[in-house]
Amino acid sequence: MKAIVCTRYGSPDVLEIRDLPEPVPGPDEVLIRVRATTVSSADWRIRSLSLPRGFGLLGRVALGFARPRRRILGTELAGDVAAVGARVTRFRPGDAVFAFAGGRLGCHVEYRCFPAGGAIAHKPPGLSYEQASAVSFGGATMLDFFRRASLQAGERVLVNGATGTVGSAAVQLARLAGARVTAVCSGDSAALVQSLGATRVVDRAREDFVRGGDLYDVIVDTAGTAPFSRCAGVLAPGGRLLLVLATLPEILRAPWNRLRSGRRVIAGPAAERPAYIETLRGLAQAGSFVPLVDSIHDFDAFRAAHARVDGGRKRGSVVLRVAGEAAAPGRPA
Ligand SMILES: NC(=O)c1ccc[n+]([C@@H]2O[C@H](COP(=O)([O-])OP(=O)(O)OC[C@H]3O[C@@H](n4cnc5c(N)ncnc54)[C@H](OP(=O)(O)O)[C@@H]3O)[C@@H](O)[C@H]2O)c1
Repeated sequence: MKAIVCTRYGSPDVLEIRDLPEPVPGPDEVLIRVRATTVSSADWRIRSLSLPRGFGLLGRVALGFARPRRRILGTELAGDVAAVGARVTRFRPGDAVFAFAGGRLGCHVEYRCFPAGGAIAHKPPGLSYEQASAVSFGGATMLDFFRRASLQAGERVLVNGATGTVGSAAVQLARLAGARVTAVCSGDSAALVQSLGATRVVDRAREDFVRGGDLYDVIVDTAGTAPFSRCAGVLAPGGRLLLVLATLPEILRAPWNRLRSGRRVIAGPAAERPAYIETLRGLAQAGSFVPLVDSIHDFDAFRAAHARVDGGRKRGSVVLRVAGEAAAPGRPA
């Protein structure tokens, strides 16, 4: 099978297509023939070792010193079950599914095994494979941050960086939770974020949301431009600042900021729980959550897809369409 391998840290040129053996599912696993996968901001960060301030050494320890330890990137995918292990009852060959590998990566391939009890769910029929592949990265991240923030209906939520993968999921999920959503983005994305559920839009080139005079119960920062020092004055009493993108000093200062101001800073990696994928499946099936897709690229155009992510201006997710050989449904594990 074809796989995109990251040979060392660097530009998209460090990526190569290689032929690898097709994996064989264990007794509790499913083998998925991948139809679509995404290139996410996590793939960009790992490939280029572009980490938030303070994470340089920690990053190399976690990801690999000279080159990424996990050489196949890709956090999420959608495809068809090609084979199931002997003990699997939840899925059958031929089922359309989507799945989230998160930090385990390895989705930029034609075939991948997943534990049947893990972060995998049936694909909602109303979503294409390309859309389904883009459900998990932003969706699961924001379900976890909103859970940690105990987001309540009626609260005022501001999303900074509202058109990215995480930001567009934040707008939709906050709205579904009954919040009133203000989106901060470029002016030409106003109609887009309104269609996702934002009731108010701040054009970041024309207006500074911290000077608008409005207070927010929850501020989500996916762009790294809304640290506590900037937002404290517009966080309502008991307010929470969700730093999806945070520097190490900001994370370390969080307990002190809470003690001093009564406002919480919630930061750090989102927990990856299989239950989030089932929640997202239900929302997508009901038509309430539709992941935003920026662009769709052929598998072989992986360098162009990475370059689009590197630019930092994508609207939603960059998807790789995986053509591959047709799997033989029913193939024994
Ligand atoms: N903590 C975690 O567990 C976790 C999980 C996932 C992701 N992350 C981090 O979260 C960040 C966002 O991820 P993502 O996948 O959503 O990224 P993304 O899709 O690449 O975000 C792109 C968006 O960022 C916006 N943007 C760029 N510069 C901006 C600025 N100065 N102010 C406001 N918006 C700006 C752009 O909107 P405009 O159109 O307005 O330019 C663009 O639509 C990444 O740094 C990623 O590493 C953290």
